[in-house]
Amino acid sequence: MIRTVFNMSTTFATSIHFVEHPTFDARVAASIRQLLVEVDNEFVPPLSCRSSTTTKDFVAVSDSDGPGEYVRQTLSQPCLVAFRDDALAGFMRLHLRHHNSDLNIGDLCTFVRTVVTSHRYRRQGVATQLYETLFKLAPECASPFVATRTWNENTSHIALLEKLGFQQVNRLQDDRGCGIDSLYFARPCALPAGHSTPRSLETEAAKRLAEDCKLGRRLQAAP
Ligand SMILES: CC(C)(COP(=O)(O)OP(=O)(O)OC[C@H]1O[C@@H](n2cnc3c(N)ncnc32)[C@H](O)[C@@H]1OP(=O)(O)O)[C@@H](O)C(=O)NCCC(=O)NCCS
Repeated sequence: MIRTVFNMSTTFATSIHFVEHPTFDARVAASIRQLLVEVDNEFVPPLSCRSSTTTKDFVAVSDSDGPGEYVRQTLSQPCLVAFRDDALAGFMRLHLRHHNSDLNIGDLCTFVRTVVTSHRYRRQGVATQLYETLFKLAPECASPFVATRTWNENTSHIALLEKLGFQQVNRLQDDRGCGIDSLYFARPCALPAGHSTPRSLETEAAKRLAEDCKLGRRLQAAP
């Protein structure tokens, strides 16, 4: 199923669609595959060295097929795709109604497994638009939170998450190798106006997040 969920008419016209099974849409599937090949080595560990997209275990396995296994798994999961100029500018792979004890939030979330923008379209707000679309969609999936994980050296993704009001809720030291930590971030779907969330440490962040979440629910419930 493909559902258009967002259209923006500005200097950069972006259309964002929800695709439940990308594998069944030949154009979307080919574009996602091409984009994952483009960014393979930007990930830590590289996508072509991952045996799974879902495990916590980042043990590397060599894949002569490039990121073939990662692509296969990506195409079987729901995605938000962003098109510009009729080309795939970026996409976000989702796990709906996800529970993960590493998040410390004790609730279901919509988990962003992967978010990627093609080099050609970076710093033009594509990932921001994908996240903002997701904040509107996630409550439909009965998830009060949006969450994701990244690694401590991924400064661009961390800057983006902090700008969007995510808080770091957990840190797994050396999870991806010596000195490379996995960082977990979460954000309630609705934030009060003017709310800013400075980066903070695990337990305190989780408590504040729980408060934000209650507030988020109240905001969503308001007429
Ligand atoms: C992280 C990524 C998705 C950001 O995509 P993007 O579409 O370029 O992001 P946006 O244009 O929406 O950026 C929004 C904000 O994020 C921050 N940001 C994004 N890229 C940044 C960079 N390279 N350096 C510093 N800050 C950055 C900035 O605050 C930026 O706002 P600004 O441009 O007004 O300063 C993109 O760099 C990417 O695909 N990286 C490789 C894959 C990856 O690491 N994905 C995350 C792990 S799953």
